[in-house]
Amino acid sequence: MDRRGFVTSGMAAGLAGIAGSGASLGALLDRAPGFAPGKTMANGDIRLSSNENPLGVSPAAREAIIEAIVESNRYGGRRGEVLQALAQYLGVETENLTLGFGSTEILQICTQAFQGPNTPLIAAAPTFEDVMDYQDTMPFEVQTVPLLADYQHDVQQMRELSMKRPSVVYFCNPNNPTGTITSSADIDAWISEAPETTTFLMDEAYLEYVTDDRYWDTLKWIDQKPNVVVIRTFSKIFGMAGLRLGFAVSHPTTAARLQEHSIQNSPNVLAGAAAVASLQDEGIVARSIAVNEEAKNIVHTTLDELGLDYLPTNTNFIMHRINGDLPTYRERMAAEGLLVGRNFPPMLDHNRLSFGLPNEMDRWASTIKDFRSKGWV
Ligand SMILES: Cc1ncc(COP(=O)(O)O)c(C=O)c1O
Repeated sequence: MDRRGFVTSGMAAGLAGIAGSGASLGALLDRAPGFAPGKTMANGDIRLSSNENPLGVSPAAREAIIEAIVESNRYGGRRGEVLQALAQYLGVETENLTLGFGSTEILQICTQAFQGPNTPLIAAAPTFEDVMDYQDTMPFEVQTVPLLADYQHDVQQMRELSMKRPSVVYFCNPNNPTGTITSSADIDAWISEAPETTTFLMDEAYLEYVTDDRYWDTLKWIDQKPNVVVIRTFSKIFGMAGLRLGFAVSHPTTAARLQEHSIQNSPNVLAGAAAVASLQDEGIVARSIAVNEEAKNIVHTTLDELGLDYLPTNTNFIMHRINGDLPTYRERMAAEGLLVGRNFPPMLDHNRLSFGLPNEMDRWASTIKDFRSKGWV
């Protein structure tokens, strides 16, 4: 089989138009000849614990990576091409963009650029931990505000804290690990009135998965508000977690400031080639959403059947209740080859489950039903 055939054979045909086919997506994926979803674990275990995209990179990106390998001895990483393609995709200028080794590097850059001993980070609890981790080696303060009972950010309390001194506010919306959204109208109301001394880090890693119409993104603020940084990633909807490419979108003056803290020559050539090809793959977002929706339906049906509560999710994962001890539940799942979640204090009666391919979720469903028959959940 030639390289093109190896990379794409049957996959595009198998996946094209899948969402509207009416047939079970899981069955179609299983039957699609040459379909090569991203691997989970080398030993055959299924990883449902890291909010990855189980479809893997786009077929076009696979081909672009193979073609770009010969450029691996050169610096450059197709940086210019990536910036151009991304700017066009987002409808912004290249001057608005900052690239990072995943969006976690962007979070680290923001910590360095905006915080100081008297400029704390204000964040929800629980939320995505990485930005907090980057404070550990710095003499910086973190102020956490518990999520509200409906799992929205407590905008009012965060806002009050931010009035006391210059602050950096981290908003993970939709939020990890809860999968829930905070009303964009409430966030907009705050941003529109906030002083320039409040910097907003808007982490929108999961925005493409959102179905709740109380949510919209914050890109519109970047022209008027240099204190708003929108942070996104190729790791989720584009299935490129292992290639490491994330980015910030901000006012040009803010982007220039972030650039001073960034690594030059980013991204690496393979990530760069994959990103450009992914942005040009018009079906990738719809395919990823369709697979995610089918997985979500399987999980919802199963949890409903078992009477296990879950949070409304706008992401590629879900927080659901389990009866019994969480580490024991995870160990039992792992013994069945299913890696699910980790601890997210204080939600220690919930497990975070990432959505895999529909057939993987079927396996999870039959396993948790078996656990119920044994009285374990
Ligand atoms: C909210 C959120 N932001 C950022 C990231 C990190 O993504 P990246 O792979 O771009 O570093 C994750 C990863 O799970 C995440 O959940």
